[in-house]
Amino acid sequence: MYHITMDQLALKEMVGKGAVETLVKSGMKLGLGTGSTAMPAVRHIGLLMKQGKLKDIRGVPTSFQTSIECEKWGIPLFTLNSAEIGGTLDLTIDGADEVDPHNRCVKGGGGALLVEKIVAYASAAYAIVVDETKVVDHLGLKFPVPLEVIPEARLPVMMTLEKLGAEVLLREAVRKAGPVITEHANLLVDIRFKHPIDPESLEAELNHLPGVVENGFFTRLRPTVFIGHSEGTLEIRH
Ligand code: A5P
Repeated sequence: MYHITMDQLALKEMVGKGAVETLVKSGMKLGLGTGSTAMPAVRHIGLLMKQGKLKDIRGVPTSFQTSIECEKWGIPLFTLNSAEIGGTLDLTIDGADEVDPHNRCVKGGGGALLVEKIVAYASAAYAIVVDETKVVDHLGLKFPVPLEVIPEARLPVMMTLEKLGAEVLLREAVRKAGPVITEHANLLVDIRFKHPIDPESLEAELNHLPGVVENGFFTRLRPTVFIGHSEGTLEIRH
């Protein structure tokens, strides 16, 4: 028997488009995620708007990457605080680095976790778009969980995280000497655990460390997860 396998780029396209076709309706206020799987979703919204199939869409971007893509496609952009948005969204579509069997996620591989979480937690509905490589049994063991940290707190935060038994790394920039600086002028500390942890407790506890602005555990929402499988099927997991 022959199996057709799609490459990862094609999978990301299929999942992004699938989520938009399933969930996005005219008139919606949308949170728009960051990363290589969220971008095809953004582009598909732009395309449907150009074709007149979607109307009166108001977007709130989660990063410069998303803003730039929306600007290319003419998707009207606002902030959560704009009168047109009024602090709440109908739906957010975003990617993830890991998704567990309870649809809890780790996010922030693209460094945009702070606004991604603000936007997600202000949304009535939340959708995650991933390819099958992101599906795990336990969060935090494979892909590092990022924390956005105020620069002054770097060392004390990293030392405390090491005491928790995590492997701790300051995220280094590519094509810029030194660390990654986030869109809010903070640092990113990536942590990885050796044994399964309780992501819900950690999501709350990590933010209690002085100088931690936010962390990449997204456990308080139960998103609809769109998973692209390499044989070309789209799984929708509630
Ligand atoms: C951005 O900060 C992230 O949360 C992304 O959503 C996540 O890293 C998934 O990105 P990819 O879809 O590019 O893997």
